[in-house]
Order: sequence, then C-alpha cells, then structure tokens
Amino acid sequence: MHTSRVLQHENPLGLPRTGTIPRMQRGLPQKRPIKGVAKVIAVSSAKGGVGKSTVAANLALAFARLGYRSGILDMDVFGPSIPTLFNLDEAPRLTAHNQLVPLTNYGVQTMSIGYLVGSGSALVWRGPMLLKAVQQLLHEVEWGCGLDVLVLDLPPGTGDTQLSITQQVELAGAVVVTTPHALAVQDAVKGVDMFRKVAVPLLGLVQNMSVFRCPHCHGDTAVFGSSDRVQRACADHGLDFLGDVPLHPNIGEDASRGKPTVVAEPQSERAKVFMDIATTLASKIDLPSSS
Ligand SMILES: Nc1ncnc2c1ncn2[C@@H]1O[C@H](COP(=O)(O)OP(=O)(O)O)[C@@H](O)[C@H]1O
Ligand SMILES: [Mg+2]
Repeated sequence: MHTSRVLQHENPLGLPRTGTIPRMQRGLPQKRPIKGVAKVIAVSSAKGGVGKSTVAANLALAFARLGYRSGILDMDVFGPSIPTLFNLDEAPRLTAHNQLVPLTNYGVQTMSIGYLVGSGSALVWRGPMLLKAVQQLLHEVEWGCGLDVLVLDLPPGTGDTQLSITQQVELAGAVVVTTPHALAVQDAVKGVDMFRKVAVPLLGLVQNMSVFRCPHCHGDTAVFGSSDRVQRACADHGLDFLGDVPLHPNIGEDASRGKPTVVAEPQSERAKVFMDIATTLASKIDLPSSS
C-alpha cells in the first residue's frame, strides 16, 4: 500500500521513526498523565481573539516567577501564537527516543507546532491528522527535568481538539478567558458547559480587555461594555472570578515583540494582575509552595 501516505497520516508532525513503526492505538485514546508533568491547566475560551494566548503566556511566566518549573504547550495547531509570544522559532531537536525537546525562554519551557511548520505556513489538515498531531504534542515532548505546571494554550471553540485533550490528559482544571462583551461572555459560558460535560474542574473566569484608562485624561472606558457582565456570569454559573486584565497597549505590544508583560514590565500593575491570578491558581490546583 502507500506506505509514505500511511506514515504521514500517523505522524503529522513528521517526527522521524527509527526501526519499526509502532502500531496505531485503536479506538479512543487513553487518559494518561503527561510524562514528567505534575499539573496541567487548560486556558480556553469558546471565542477567538479574546486574549487566551496572551493570558496563557503571562500565566506560564508568572508561575516561573513564583519559582515553579513551568511550561506552555501551544495546542492551537492552526494558529500557533507561542513562537511569537516567546520570541522563539528554531526547529526543536529530537531525543534519542524521538521525543521533541522544548525550546526555553524566560525560564519557561515551550512547545508549539509553529516551531515545526514555520509561522507563515498554513496547515491544511483533516480531522484524523489534527487529532494525531494533538496526541503527539501531548505525549511526545520531553519536558526536561520535569514541570510543576504545564499551561495548555487551547484553540478557540469547543470542538475536536478540546475534546481530544480532555480525553487524553488528566487536567487539574480549566481557566476560561473572556472579554466583557456579551457575545464573548455567551461563548465563554458554552466553554464552561463543555468542561462540565467532560468533568474537567473549572478554576474560574479571567476577564480580559475590560477597562481602558486614557493616558491623557486618565478617564476609564469599558471598551467592550458593562464590566460587571463577567462577574454576573460567574455568579450565575457558580464560577470563581480570577482576575481582571485591563486593555492596555503595552500588553499587546510587549506580546507582539516576544516579551510578554510579566517579563517586560514586571513591576507594573498589569503584571501584578497576572501574578495574582497565578498565585490563586497555584493554590487551587494544590501546587506545593514554591521555593
Ligand atoms: N489585555 C490586553 N490589552 C491589549 N491587547 C491585548 C490584551 N489581551 C490581548 N490583547 C491583544 O489582542 C489580540 C488577541 O489576543 P490573543 O492572545 O492572540 O487572543 P486568542 O489567543 O484568544 O485568539 C492580540 O493582538 C493581543 O496582543
Ligand atoms: Mg490564541
């Protein structure tokens, strides 16, 4: 048969295989721990563009600043952001056991499909390829000497990738990011519902891009409307409100130059919001107190 095609299908990340090709697992993937990783947190939202990747990156950096061994895994296979956010773009090495070696910056270990395909290329994959890539990213990365916490930056939506992740790894919990806009909150609630259906603990909601403080007149503007909409959604759905990240040009600019807020301006109010959320999460998922 078409061996090369089968190989490509089973190995979408293109990892070289030595010796015989392992048989594909049949049926549903098994839920198992990620080797060397103590706790896994998913950062999610049903809507795109609400700041998941920005929040996920800053939380991973905040965990590292708190003294934890921290990593981030970019699960947004069709729109990876971690290479840009961490200013990394080398091709990762493979270990002798064909495991991907993460790239590290600012003390955080990172892995993204963007390192393998290049940031400018689009992936055109059908479901099975996507699901196999998700499996490889989850289970074929060697996280150095281990991680206390791994942050998963999820793609938008409540589709195949999200379900496949919840079926394959034991998540310590999910953080849902939303702006205060009614449409975003509506979708965030759908995300919450999905995690409840698959029995993933909900750690709470992060409100992002809520208030803009004008640097000239110092007046506050609730850019996406009523800033208590997210608080109300939390109350209605029994969720914790984890924090409120303001809309600030530095957060966007620092992210796009590959040095997110927590490392770019560690003393700022904005960085403190991320540090406080990470501290709350650490206690919620029972991370041992950091050194
Ligand atoms: N709090 C914020 N203040 C300013 N810009 C932000 C903020 N959060 C996110 N952004 C910007 O909004 C855009 C979308 O953020 P991103 O993290 O890529 O969202 P998602 O991963 O949900 O698609 C990016 O340009 C990012 O820099
Ligand atoms: Mg993203």
